[in-house]
Amino acid sequence: MKTALKTSNPVRLVTDCLVIAVAAKNKFSAEAKEIDIASGKRLSRVLENGDFDGSLGTSLMLQGLEGVKAKRVLLVGCGEKAKLSLKEARKLLVSIAKSLLSSQAKDAHLALASLALAGADHYWLAERLAQELEDARYSYSTTKSTKAKAPALKSISLAAPKGTSKAKIDTAFANGVATGRGINCAKELGNLPGNICTPTYLAQQAIDLAKGNRALTVKVLSEKQMARLGMGSLLSVSAGSSQEAQLIVMEYKGAKVKPKADRPAPHMLVGKGITFDTGGISLKGGAAMDEMKFDMCGAASVFGTMAAVAEMALPIDIVAIVAAAENMPSGKATKPGDVVTSMSGLTIEILNTDAEGRLVLCDALTYGERYKPASVIDVATLTGAAVATFGSHVSAMLSNDDALAAELSDCGNASLDQVWQLPLHDEYQHLLDSNFADIANIGGPRAGTITAACFLSRFTKKFKWAHLDIAGSAWNSGAAKGATGRPVSLLLEYLRRKAA
Ligand code: BES
Ligand code: MN
Ligand code: ZN
Repeated sequence: MKTALKTSNPVRLVTDCLVIAVAAKNKFSAEAKEIDIASGKRLSRVLENGDFDGSLGTSLMLQGLEGVKAKRVLLVGCGEKAKLSLKEARKLLVSIAKSLLSSQAKDAHLALASLALAGADHYWLAERLAQELEDARYSYSTTKSTKAKAPALKSISLAAPKGTSKAKIDTAFANGVATGRGINCAKELGNLPGNICTPTYLAQQAIDLAKGNRALTVKVLSEKQMARLGMGSLLSVSAGSSQEAQLIVMEYKGAKVKPKADRPAPHMLVGKGITFDTGGISLKGGAAMDEMKFDMCGAASVFGTMAAVAEMALPIDIVAIVAAAENMPSGKATKPGDVVTSMSGLTIEILNTDAEGRLVLCDALTYGERYKPASVIDVATLTGAAVATFGSHVSAMLSNDDALAAELSDCGNASLDQVWQLPLHDEYQHLLDSNFADIANIGGPRAGTITAACFLSRFTKKFKWAHLDIAGSAWNSGAAKGATGRPVSLLLEYLRRKAA
């Protein structure tokens, strides 16, 4: 997608689609007024006859206005408020993106100043518009015989007030595109069925990603190598499957360091990559079990984030680890009551084989210790309890470091990919007591999201760590079933702040 900065008169602008913001109650922006006059009051009439009332998130595409050079004029409603919140501004941008992409317009023009009531600066608007355009472009068709037609839109020009830096607008737009692509990468991996998106497939994705980027190197550990490292917990999950587990390690070295100087400690992402979760011998019920192909959405978000990090060439070091496995019942599967030894040395009594996410994550986290990370964020579709608590709007966050938790909350608000903290209080830890091992893999029926995090906390004592339970936010069910690409934009916000 190409961008340009233009400041010509909207009436004379040659474009496939001119985007005009209109506030509710007939309040026209300066450019809307010009279009209205030039077109012999067409806009006033549209509002009078009630087809469009300017309420937030609505839009109306007008064709061929007399006296106006643009082929189409897209009216977008800004609502009645004097200032929009970031969420309202996003709603406006999403409606612009969807209308543009569903039209046949090949190029479009938008005056950023006309969105001034969005309580955000022009750079934020440009970046977020690019992100929403990219996000809205995605539709799943990989395993369908008819592919969706690609939208016609190829370029967009923006008008910005005097003093706006063209270079900064371009960077903002490019960052928005990269974020959108990262989100779409996560959506695509999440949506792929379990018979295609296997642990080996995920490993191949990482290898492919590294091929295009010199700052990125990938190492994939086989089951044999994991066994040598003592990852008895992770391997207990893949034991019942004919698909081999893979520990995928991506090292991104973007930090600009002087020769001979030490590299800064890397930030670390760890993703749960259960490519299908049947529950194992503690078999799940049949209802909606197909959705357990989404149990690798944590891993998918790590891939999407790394793809965007590489595209933005962020000047920091990051290590990303994906623990990929399939959770299946079979004669070789782990049984309830089995005791395994994790890489950390802690023994685990597996009371429920369906609590497998924590079993793969704990060994991945222990493996991560060797990098002496500055911070570690794990991302996992870990508990049904997180869905019960938060539904789909926020992700659950638990952390052993208050500053990190506050930072992530802030990043969630800024990226509109929000998290809400749950307590990781010591009082919950005893729920994991076991009669036969150092720790049990479940904490009983209560406080499921918290006890899952308590389990992980036993393996994260050596670093600052936050856990994101995205079981509710990672995909939608029902008619719009599909992965959301969350929390890629949250993770990017966090890493970009570290790079700034
Ligand atoms: N992948 C599931 C969690 C999940 C369930 C996410 C439903 C989204 C929707 C996880 O592996 C799991 O099965 N967790 C169990 C843990 C329990 C056995 C302690 C759960 O939440 O029921
Ligand atoms: Mn499970
Ligand atoms: Zn699972």
